[in-house]
Amino acid sequence: MLKKLVEIAIKLTSETDPDRLLQLIIDSATKLINAERASVFLYDESKKELYSKVGTGVNQEEIRFSVNSGIAGYVARTGETLIIDDPYNHHLFNKEIDSKTGFITRNILSVPMKNIEGKIIGVFQVLNKYSDVFDQEDCEYAQAFASISAVAIESARLIDEQKRQYELLQRAYKELQEAQETIIKQEKFAIIGQLASGINHEIKNQLGVVMAVEAIRKMFPDNQKIQLYTQLILEARNRIVNLLDEIKDFTKSKTYEKQPINLNDLIKNTIHLCQFDKDLDTIKIIFYEDINLKPFALINRDKIQQVLINLIRNAGHASPPKSKIEIFLEKVENDWLIKIKDYGSGIPEEIQDKVWEPFFTTKTTGTGLGLDICKKIIENHDGKIWFESKVNSGTIFYIKIPAFVEL
Ligand SMILES: Nc1ncnc2c1ncn2[C@@H]1O[C@H](COP(=O)(O)OP(=O)(O)OP(=O)(O)O)[C@@H](O)[C@H]1O
Ligand SMILES: [Mg+2]
Repeated sequence: MLKKLVEIAIKLTSETDPDRLLQLIIDSATKLINAERASVFLYDESKKELYSKVGTGVNQEEIRFSVNSGIAGYVARTGETLIIDDPYNHHLFNKEIDSKTGFITRNILSVPMKNIEGKIIGVFQVLNKYSDVFDQEDCEYAQAFASISAVAIESARLIDEQKRQYELLQRAYKELQEAQETIIKQEKFAIIGQLASGINHEIKNQLGVVMAVEAIRKMFPDNQKIQLYTQLILEARNRIVNLLDEIKDFTKSKTYEKQPINLNDLIKNTIHLCQFDKDLDTIKIIFYEDINLKPFALINRDKIQQVLINLIRNAGHASPPKSKIEIFLEKVENDWLIKIKDYGSGIPEEIQDKVWEPFFTTKTTGTGLGLDICKKIIENHDGKIWFESKVNSGTIFYIKIPAFVEL
């Protein structure tokens, strides 16, 4: 018997999963004491309740009851071991569980489970000794078994708690790492910003000189080579100026002056401007205007126009020649929703999060600031900007800005 107990002790103390351990205790107990059924009731000190999660054969639901009731309650309170041969006539016996489960309890051996400090952590109960009643020897084995089980339960709980703490620590560490990455990113952009605004002014001053080529053009109106080269120089200058403007916008913290503007008019005017854009040469831009709307929004006209141009240009860059870009405007609750839809290459899923990042571009001539600027401008208008995209079928950019309400 002692050998059996040692074997059980080794088995129990090597199981670290609390639920599996309880099941193992119950299975081993029925075999060791040669009884029909066993249960473990753990003590929940904060609620002064006993609860049981498992029981051989019986439903696996949790049973809970006050430590002031039943046989297990009595054992938990007093620390006494009880043998009851005729439970149905015992004043502590709760017949309800039997009547619920259909089980008939003939006799009970109920033992307190104490941890190393002697504190009661639960009650261990064996029911219906096969072909006999529980005797003093069963009692002693059950007590030894209960002590081993108590130690195993406590150490499994400790390991479980350690695991939980470790997971919490791991999560906290991950959050910290992410926060740090964000800070580093912000720092980087702040430095780029400072640098950019420092050189911005200087470059623009120097670029002034390039305007001298205008004079050269006029001097040689019939020289085709000079006309072509100077044209290239002027175009390059314009691109640099645009880039500097974008960088300036990107670094400036902004509060814009805003006025109520009719978005129908603004969209139509923007499309008109885009007709002069070489990149949009063969693309048809269609605005499905709803003339019944009075789409007023409190905006900085130039900034929102810049957003529209950015998005239309992006759509144009992604579109095959001779395709169309469609623009819709509708009211959604208290907002205006502008949709800019293209039938172009789409944005692959793996870069969908990145396109908003400053300096992210897939174009050889892009600076990758367009969408970052759009987002900042829209957020500055208490709006939202997002997109839906499917590779090879196209992209829809959505802009939502609050409708203007006259007070
Ligand atoms: N409508 C679109 N269809 C497909 N890809 C798009 C679309 N709009 C944006 N993109 C992708 O998002 C990237 C980032 O766009 P963003 O406007 O920020 O920069 P960019 O257009 O590359 O350069 P720029 O600063 O000159 O605007 C683009 O390079 C492109 O890959
Ligand atoms: Mg762009």
